Amino acid sequence: MTNQPERIIIFDTTLRDGEQCPGATLNIDEKLTIAKQLARLGVDVIEAGFAFASPGDFEAVKKIAQIVGTEDGPVICSLARAIKADIEAAAKALKPAVKGRIHTFISTSDIHLEYQLRKSRTEVLAIAEEMVAYAKSFLTDVEFSPMDAVRSDPQFLYQVLERAIAAGATTVNIPDTVGYTTPSEFGAIIKGIKDNVPNIDQAIISVHGHNDLGLAVANFLETVKNGARQLECTINGIGERAGNASLEELVMALHVRRQYFNPFLGRPTDSEEPLTNIDTRQIYKTSRLVSNLTGMLVQPNKAIVGANAFAHESGIHQDGVLKNKLTYEIMDAQLIGLTDNQIVLGKHSGRNAFRTRLKELGFELSETELNKAFVKFKEVADKKKEISDWDLEAIVNDEIQQA
Ligand code: KIV
Ligand code: ZN
Repeated sequence: MTNQPERIIIFDTTLRDGEQCPGATLNIDEKLTIAKQLARLGVDVIEAGFAFASPGDFEAVKKIAQIVGTEDGPVICSLARAIKADIEAAAKALKPAVKGRIHTFISTSDIHLEYQLRKSRTEVLAIAEEMVAYAKSFLTDVEFSPMDAVRSDPQFLYQVLERAIAAGATTVNIPDTVGYTTPSEFGAIIKGIKDNVPNIDQAIISVHGHNDLGLAVANFLETVKNGARQLECTINGIGERAGNASLEELVMALHVRRQYFNPFLGRPTDSEEPLTNIDTRQIYKTSRLVSNLTGMLVQPNKAIVGANAFAHESGIHQDGVLKNKLTYEIMDAQLIGLTDNQIVLGKHSGRNAFRTRLKELGFELSETELNKAFVKFKEVADKKKEISDWDLEAIVNDEIQQA
């Protein structure tokens, strides 16, 4: 039996699947910069690229393996189709890494077999087995993915996984390649694998998923409850089409709701032991770096790292968080590396937030002055989306001069 990890393994594929989204191409130095930051963030595995895909990707994997793949650094991984030349390129690029992993894959759904691979199930079974064994001849750490697993015939999927594990796969990754599944379905697929693949205990179950229906993170959380112990994700959720499961959302869901997830990992409910190795205080910085280097903007309302994720504009909410943050916040902004939450002054803001900001700016107004300034503030706020500190100063100066 393979030792099952005590924490959830975070496998970051920003530099492989993430980079596969249109316009996000990175050069070798940019990839290295991101890989260094991913190591600081504490990811367990960095999928650094697809070594066979281009000379640039080969060099990037090699450089990351050399510089980031140190003794106490993360596992460095390269993708490879279940083809000898791909596996050889991956093995060569990964050579400098202290801990290297070859991730090989072949499709298993009937639609992919008929239109993409033009191969029979018998042929796919044999290729999977043979290529996992081939990868194993280079490295002990081998991951196998049956592509489009969630749309594959479960009985065939079980057979392929059994053969891949027998051939030496130490991780079996179950991809929702087209972002089609739902949480309960994905959970049941993982349970089916645990119940029907006789040698499944010899491998770690991983999941990989896309966000075509906006369900990738929810799907993964359900698989954790059913035995998945590695999650493949990207920073800011970038990736093919609608993207991949977002690292920051998964990690923070597992952190904020750890009491809920603890029992599924065999821990007491109230255990404070972290569920992942991620240093959450590095999340915001990593998100900004990936956004800047890929040019992929983060939507303002994006969970965890969006500009509005810790901002409060409405008066009721501002009043609440100024008295006790827990009224409208489920996590502290500092947890992801921000200095604090943000009180945004606009037309929905209340007197308490207005007074607090003026105090921070050094204005001590009498109750009458404050009332007059507040009326003026609401007039201005009706005309502008956001009220800046300059606006506030102008409002207060006007009121004080008129008094
Ligand atoms: O989405 C997918 O199926 C993949 C595989 C290569 C794991 O990215
Ligand atoms: Zn993918």
